[in-house]
Amino acid sequence: MSVQGKTIVRRAVCPGSFDPITNGHLDIIERASRLYDVVHIAVLINKSKQGLFTVEERIQMIEEVSAEYGNVVVESHHGLLVDYCRDRNIPAIVKGLRAVSDFDYELQMAQMNIGLSGVETLFVPTSPTYSFLSSSLVKEVAAYGGDVSHLVPALVHRRLVARIAERK
Ligand code: PNS
Repeated sequence: MSVQGKTIVRRAVCPGSFDPITNGHLDIIERASRLYDVVHIAVLINKSKQGLFTVEERIQMIEEVSAEYGNVVVESHHGLLVDYCRDRNIPAIVKGLRAVSDFDYELQMAQMNIGLSGVETLFVPTSPTYSFLSSSLVKEVAAYGGDVSHLVPALVHRRLVARIAERK
């Protein structure tokens, strides 16, 4: 966008653990990519949580499944989300809200983040198709042999099934 001869790049970030990315995440990322010039996907590193996938594997999967949108940048970050936003001039965090149960914690984080740095949080209602979906549930169901192929992108599904088989 150009205002008074100045080019303005509208940026937003979709943060998360993405262990692994699901169709619910992808729905939010796709919608954010239509609203902003550049959408950053920040894979937050939580050293106290042992993931099923390494951060590098998560990033690679997100890059592959979001490549078609053409304006998505995927990076890892260790530390506060507001620091990530400040370093990249990102004024907005975009989050999906699945159900009322998400709201309490998301509101707390949004209020903390705006208080810390002025960064806004915008909530996007999750598509009803994905309102029950989380990476943890996908992993649990897949680990017990349940079919989650309709809940994650095909390449994520292949890697999920392979990783679970390796761990058995
Ligand atoms: O996918 P998740 O695990 O539900 O995502 C939660 C996440 C990573 C977005 C949240 O824990 C976060 O923002 N972590 C970064 C550290 C931080 O800024 N913490 C203070 C939040 S107010």
